[in-house]
Amino acid sequence: MFFDFKILDLPPIPNELVVNITPGTIIRNHPGQEYTRNGVSNVSAPNPFYKISAELERWIQDNICKKYNEVGIRYTHGSSEYPASIVHPDETSSCVLMYNLDHGGGWLNFWQQWGHGVVRDDRYVINNYENVIRISQYETPNFCWYMVNTKILHSIENMKSTRINIQVSLDSAHYVK
Ligand SMILES: [Fe+2]
Repeated sequence: MFFDFKILDLPPIPNELVVNITPGTIIRNHPGQEYTRNGVSNVSAPNPFYKISAELERWIQDNICKKYNEVGIRYTHGSSEYPASIVHPDETSSCVLMYNLDHGGGWLNFWQQWGHGVVRDDRYVINNYENVIRISQYETPNFCWYMVNTKILHSIENMKSTRINIQVSLDSAHYVK
């Protein structure tokens, strides 16, 4: 059995650490990628990943999780023109702790590629929705921690505006303080 998504009972980030948050130095840029849905060509929402402040990182270490692969803040620039991120498994982690500051109206979706297992050990981007079937979808609330199994193909769908969330990538779903 596998888990895909779970809301966690962990402390919320104090408001003063996030109220005026701005992106720090860029860690990785993820430009939009072309995909096809129902025979129509689209471009996915760009989703650059930035550093967070040392103060916020220290709070996360003290209150949420001492050891992790990477921490940062992602801005997924969704809109009515770019409502979805690309369907993908992550390459740098097996699961990610996430905390939305703004869900942008989007829902987290999990997918399975025809002819493949649910949990993926490869990095494979899906460019056509004909190749996948949806296995679950979740409304992800703001201001609470949740865990995502990023080895399962996933995407954010139906975004209306920019989605902003803090992401802490881990090697194991069990490594939570
Ligand atoms: Fe991802």
